[in-house]
Amino acid sequence: MFFKKKNDAIIVDPSRLPKHIAIIMDGNGRWAAKRSLPRKAGHKAGAEALERVVTEAKKMGIQHVTVYAFSTENWKRSNDEVAAIMDLLRHYLKDSFQRFLKDDVRMQVIGDVSGLDVDIQEQIKVIVEESKEKQGMTVHIALNYGGRDELRRGIQKIAEKVESGELSSKEISEETIEAYLDTAGVPDPELVIRTSGEERISNFLLWQIAYSEFYFTDVLWPDFGKKDLEKAIYYYQNRERRFGGR
Ligand code: IPE
Ligand code: IPE
Ligand code: MG
Repeated sequence: MFFKKKNDAIIVDPSRLPKHIAIIMDGNGRWAAKRSLPRKAGHKAGAEALERVVTEAKKMGIQHVTVYAFSTENWKRSNDEVAAIMDLLRHYLKDSFQRFLKDDVRMQVIGDVSGLDVDIQEQIKVIVEESKEKQGMTVHIALNYGGRDELRRGIQKIAEKVESGELSSKEISEETIEAYLDTAGVPDPELVIRTSGEERISNFLLWQIAYSEFYFTDVLWPDFGKKDLEKAIYYYQNRERRFGGR
């Protein structure tokens, strides 16, 4: 067997790790409500959980982690909550990302960055540039991200190439489409984790998850830690991936 349980501890097989784990970090609001705290306290605790999980994933040897931090639909929330999340992001770009940098972590952002406040866009540019040579692992933060919007933006760029005569419509292959997604060049996630008991995709990585395995847990994101990450990988390592073959 390729895994073992010792004293009830979950032991993942380091030789069969997913290269890329995508995480829908859900349940911050419910975590706060359980403690009679404002929702923004839940987002703060969620940001701390992210730092913890990135550190653990890196120690384990995971190469890519993509996290859903703010969706194209999350603008529908109250102005107060959106502002609190954006402030947290500003803080995060200064603090946690600086710690990641020291830890050899590369930072990338997916989503329509142009929809964010200009100061945040600037900070993102700096952090992406400063971390581009880092080899330890890559954290992809999905900000103002929607899978449909990503496809729309990609298709628009492809259409421009066709219009200008640089590309013929017959040449459009799956590889062409992939090359125009925000995730161009990144392997598809083998494992998608969603916390908080919800079992839906909520417009995350629609193209890229064609053959991903899914791990759903009732744990709320701010409570998610090393053990939960190990459980998810353990679960993944016990799935039989078929890719349509038999
Ligand atoms: C996820 O937690 C974080 C974001 C979507 C920004 P939620 O804020 O969705 O938490 P719940 O689902 O209300 O508990
Ligand atoms: C998905 O969570 C988006 C993020 C985690 C950033 P939501 O809480 O926004 O999704 P729904 O509304 O439950 O589908
Ligand atoms: Mg939610």
